[in-house]
Amino acid sequence: MKVPLFDLTRQYKKMRVEMMNRIDEVISSGRVILGKNVEEIERNIAKYIGVKHAIGVASGSDALLLALRAMGVKAGDRVITTPYTFFATVSAITRLDARPIFVDVDEKNFNLSLNDVKRALKEDERIKAIIPVHLFGRSVDMQSLKGICDPYGVKILEDAAQSVGSECVVDGKKVRTGSVGEAGILSFFPTKNLGAYGDAGMVLTNSDEINEKVRMLRVHGSRKKYVHDEVGYNSRMDEIQAAILNVKFPNLDKWISKRISVAKNYASLFEKYEVDVVYPEVPQDRSYVFHQYVIRVKKRDELREYLTSNHIGTSIYYPIPLHLQKCFSYLGYKMGDFPTAEELSKETLALPIFPEITVEEQAYVVEKIKEFYNKS
Ligand SMILES: Cc1ncc(COP(=O)(O)O)c(C=O)c1O
Repeated sequence: MKVPLFDLTRQYKKMRVEMMNRIDEVISSGRVILGKNVEEIERNIAKYIGVKHAIGVASGSDALLLALRAMGVKAGDRVITTPYTFFATVSAITRLDARPIFVDVDEKNFNLSLNDVKRALKEDERIKAIIPVHLFGRSVDMQSLKGICDPYGVKILEDAAQSVGSECVVDGKKVRTGSVGEAGILSFFPTKNLGAYGDAGMVLTNSDEINEKVRMLRVHGSRKKYVHDEVGYNSRMDEIQAAILNVKFPNLDKWISKRISVAKNYASLFEKYEVDVVYPEVPQDRSYVFHQYVIRVKKRDELREYLTSNHIGTSIYYPIPLHLQKCFSYLGYKMGDFPTAEELSKETLALPIFPEITVEEQAYVVEKIKEFYNKS
């Protein structure tokens, strides 16, 4: 048996005709950038997430950059974030010549350690903003994070690139990630829970001011054609990607439910086969949409090799914590500064997960993991 880490083709087969029709409509219309499909997905996502504004941009990476700039972060400002995330969370800060302040993660949920955030805010009055990441689709405890940040006037930009649809509770109400901070962002990278067939991203906000600014920044800083008040970016969502997202969007909740069932099935298989791995816990009061299914294991690299030799796709998110990346060495961090992030980077392994994976494929993955530990 072969089990890929993810497989976009199974989903595509079911929606090919509708997809082709929508793409044909776009090209035939002659309007291929920022048109009615972008407006439609902006409306759909704003309603779904529960925010006043959703602005389509070229990628999740750009969404972070534009949102941060629209929130007023500028050169020299300090922004807290996690060293255990995808590169773009941090490069958005440095692309504005602002300074990332790393804080270690919690070993249970892999998200920012709230105690460490508290300490960092106490120690440094210059912190202007914070980017929590709802890593692998697991919601950060936004109620507690807000409680810690609000007294300092620190602005929150939620990186919800991996967590579209996940919920948490704030002020007694269930809300979606990306709707709690000053702004939030989504990525529609093809492998995301809602993915385009190319790059696309979105900024989410309830602020009219941030909305207006992001819309201006995505078209070269222009409010009126050929009039530029600021130097912005070329970061528009194209109509083909938006049309693809509009075809896929009605399936999002169904796909999320499937991912959650896949995760439950992995957990029961690990129990049944008594496999010695740490598999993800689902928080009681927050949801986990399982963009990735990441386990913590001994002999990670050998296990990965064994699974590869048995045709099982896996991945490591993330092998080098960001404070140890060469391009950020000027920040002065060193090995040992964030022990949990460093341990996770050596011990975590992402297993195959996508809505169409079969129970037989999952059983094969877990059997092979069990077999590896029996042999070694
Ligand atoms: C946590 C996180 N932030 C930001 C991004 C950037 O998104 P994109 O790939 O759409 O630029 C990604 C995805 O790749 C991500 O996983």
